[in-house]
Amino acid sequence: MTIKNNRRPWIGGNWKMFKTIPEALDTFQELKAGLPDPLQAEVIIAPPFTALSALARVIQDGPVRLAAQNVHWAEDGAFTGEISTRMLVDVGCTYCLIGHSERRHVFGETDNQVHQKLATCLKTGLKPVLCLGETLEEREEGRIQAVIERQLLKAVEGVSPEDMARGVVAYEPVWAIGTGRSATPAQAQEVHAFIRGLLQTRFNKTLALETRIVYGGSVTPDNIRDLRSQTDIDGALVGGASLKADKFLALIKEVNQ
Ligand code: PGA
Repeated sequence: MTIKNNRRPWIGGNWKMFKTIPEALDTFQELKAGLPDPLQAEVIIAPPFTALSALARVIQDGPVRLAAQNVHWAEDGAFTGEISTRMLVDVGCTYCLIGHSERRHVFGETDNQVHQKLATCLKTGLKPVLCLGETLEEREEGRIQAVIERQLLKAVEGVSPEDMARGVVAYEPVWAIGTGRSATPAQAQEVHAFIRGLLQTRFNKTLALETRIVYGGSVTPDNIRDLRSQTDIDGALVGGASLKADKFLALIKEVNQ
């Protein structure tokens, strides 16, 4: 396994709004049976809310960890239809995706809401997976760095280096998500290095060197090796290719070595 600067590889499967409880359990059992041994990478699945409880029972102390796909920023309150960080910890989540591009762009989540969610996660002991990424228009206008910087700095406002050390950052260019058009390894590496630089300026060098920055956006068994070989790419956040256990296992094996 390649441990880059002691960063443990990380791979997450975001199942989005797919899978009933039995379907989620089936996929998980297949996944569990095929996991590489030894498993050095951290493997996460983010099923829909409805499957969390059933999966938590079968996952138990095994190597796979659960993530939620979203959360509300308030600790509790009259917020019909929302889920709190305490509920996610209670059901067995270790991680929570924050600011996924579908939350930002389909549901209009703002940088400030992303910030509030991240802060509440950290307060409750949930590890945030902070998702950042530019749209195609922003890329074409040469605004990648400005967008990433704005999203990142707002999200981590007031966050200490000790708290940030518990999080993972996911670079997911909006134009690459679910489109079959992944960023090239060079394009992704450029932004990952930029993010690491921002973490160093905003926090410190140690934090920047230790933070896992993973790539997401049309990751497949065909492109993962080249992406993963880049200096600053520590793993992947995978949507479509994580839905089928055999494909996800192929990706886990790549990230694990
Ligand atoms: P995709 O999704 O792998 O289907 O492009 C990635 C994501 O949404 O995290």
